[in-house]
Amino acid sequence: MKKILITGAAGFIGSHVARLFVNKYPDYEIFNLDKLTYAGNLENLKDFDKAPNYKFILGDIVDGDFIMNLFKEHKFDGVIHLAAESHVDRSIENPMEFIMANIVGTVNLLNAAKHIWEGNYEGKRFYHVSTDEVYGSLGEEGFFYEDTPYDPHSPYSASKASSDHLVRAYHDTYGLPIIISNCSNNYGPNQFPEKLVPLFINNIRHNKPLPVYGKGENVRDWLYVIDHAAAIDVIYHNGPTGETFNIGGHNEWTNIDLIKVVCKVMDEKLGREVGTSEKLITYVTDRAGHDLRYAIDSSKLQNELGWKPSLQFEEGINLTIDWYLNNQEWLDNVTSGNYQKYYEEMYGDR
Ligand code: NAD
Ligand code: DAU
Repeated sequence: MKKILITGAAGFIGSHVARLFVNKYPDYEIFNLDKLTYAGNLENLKDFDKAPNYKFILGDIVDGDFIMNLFKEHKFDGVIHLAAESHVDRSIENPMEFIMANIVGTVNLLNAAKHIWEGNYEGKRFYHVSTDEVYGSLGEEGFFYEDTPYDPHSPYSASKASSDHLVRAYHDTYGLPIIISNCSNNYGPNQFPEKLVPLFINNIRHNKPLPVYGKGENVRDWLYVIDHAAAIDVIYHNGPTGETFNIGGHNEWTNIDLIKVVCKVMDEKLGREVGTSEKLITYVTDRAGHDLRYAIDSSKLQNELGWKPSLQFEEGINLTIDWYLNNQEWLDNVTSGNYQKYYEEMYGDR
């Protein structure tokens, strides 16, 4: 049996990747290593956490000794590394947590993989899951390609850029069999409601203001999370070692247009008069260093590995909103406790 370590699989994207691998590959043993930060939630895994080929390990990737011992004990064949601090606004408030988890944590994993594989890299793979934010910000035209120079602007994106460089350095220096993907904004079930889509769904549910940064003119390229998981599967299995693949939906929206779609669909589903939710839109102080536009060119992945998004945005956003409305207990659970303090600190003075 192949042993695959997925880091951060109690989080949003990781839980979808773990579900796909556990169900699709019964001959793989899937280990989920997660620290269970505020963003990690075992509830996200409950439909498959009793599967015989799945195991949860509680632990911190920043703890180098723990990681080394874990790799020595289990001798993983592959790593799919998603664990990270992932929210830009939090990185502006507290950069050091991002440096530790995203940079030091990644190097600990690289060192442990290098140590147990000892130059015998046959059948081994270290897959680093990264973001399009490393490329910086686009003007009104153009796309991010795999060879677009890195130009990160937030502590979050700078920490991810740094980890990408280190992963490539371990390939170039030690021959570690790495592969990297850089994906655009994900949306879908199980996303922590600090990110735009679930935050606004939750606020509409409670008739709370919808805090739009600046003028709402920033553009993001949205991909349904299950399509991201499918891309990771394809790249993990078929991507050539040492390569990078961009993943994106060719689905650009200004924030304000996207928010209006969410408002409209929420009004329909909640049986509210059309226009009710839009009245909650409140323009607030812009995010510091706010990147104007992200747009991914994913033609390398589509042409070389045959992946393409399975869903149109209209279908994806409907499925997403249905999921949050059908899982209000999940939303209530993750927004109790510390979330209230976080919300007050982030939005109290905006
Ligand atoms: P998330 O915040 O929902 O989940 C992150 C997970 O990592 C959580 O379960 C958390 O407990 C765990 N974690 C954090 N620090 C840890 C540590 N020190 N040790 C062990 N576990 C730790 O994040 P996400 O949105 O699912 O993103 C997953 C990955 O995908 C990240 O690397 C992120 O940079 C990347 N990514 C995200 C998006 C997006 O739109 N969300 C897009 C492209 C790439
Ligand atoms: O592009 C990939 C990245 O997408 C990932 O690497 C990150 O982990 C993920 O968080 C996401 O980053 P963004 O900063 O683009 O996502 P977020 O949901 O925080 O914000 C999306 C846009 O909405 C952005 O332009 C900021 C804006 N926004 C966000 C929030 C939370 C608002 O206007 N108001 C808000 O309250």
